[in-house]
Amino acid sequence: MSLRPTLETRRAIPTLEGAGVKLHRAFGFQDPSELDPFLLFDDFRNERPQDFEKGFPWHPHRGIETITYVLEGTVEHADSLGNTGTLGAGDVQWMTAGRGILHQEMPQGNARGQMHGFQLWGNLPSDQKMTAPRYQDVTAKDIPEVIDDDGTKVRVITGEFWGKTGPVDGIAADPQYLDISIPAGVKKTFRIDTYRRAFAYVFQGAGAFADASAPTGVLLEKEVAGEEVNIRDLSGDRTLIRFGTGDEVTVQAGPEGIRFLLISGAPIEEPVAWHGPIVMNTRAELEQAFAELRNGTFIKPAH
Ligand code: FE2
Repeated sequence: MSLRPTLETRRAIPTLEGAGVKLHRAFGFQDPSELDPFLLFDDFRNERPQDFEKGFPWHPHRGIETITYVLEGTVEHADSLGNTGTLGAGDVQWMTAGRGILHQEMPQGNARGQMHGFQLWGNLPSDQKMTAPRYQDVTAKDIPEVIDDDGTKVRVITGEFWGKTGPVDGIAADPQYLDISIPAGVKKTFRIDTYRRAFAYVFQGAGAFADASAPTGVLLEKEVAGEEVNIRDLSGDRTLIRFGTGDEVTVQAGPEGIRFLLISGAPIEEPVAWHGPIVMNTRAELEQAFAELRNGTFIKPAH
């Protein structure tokens, strides 16, 4: 067993997206090889309706998958295939854009005006970029939840974990997408196969992710900041932790516990040509997509 080093710890950055949605971007539009097969991760938790209700009106996607996980509030969606629906708290939508889709995603807050959720973009390999578009809508009750003796709770959205298999399947990047809650003070180790690229995104509480150079998992106070510490992440809200190579990750929950997403997948390792919501392998493919958008042949009609 070898511990994965924490290559980088960083806070998500306030970003304006869609028609004026205030969100936090943990990564995206940077070096796409860093977290290959994942391209982008947005945290659209928001407490004020005016900051999210303009939503993400009609826009195209090609060559990728977008994965939406809702924690609070709902997201109403509609697309060029004629699908419409509402994602509620705890639900997941795994959308394979493939050769092309036009859709809109409109967040609606809960009764207290809050909207909490995440969107991840996964890349598709060249031989699947032009595959038929597909949705996998998963309701909260179909997502297996495993609870360990120490109170650690894991929702398994994709992949296998502690004997449970998540409901989303057939994804090229072989992703494992886990929502993990660890009670105060508990130290926990998670196995992640070596071939995977992995990151964690902390969105509640705090904890310390052990680095390979200090696998003891000492919990440090947040205010130690500024000192050289060998456990890189003191975490807190909206923190991305990018892991290096190894086969396990260790985290010790802070005094309020910690909740984070632990996401990993098999790197695709192909050239990336990316503009806005379209991600292809070559510039020519990208230009082709935008030419089709201009001349109205981007999508096949639904009927
Ligand atoms: Fe979208």
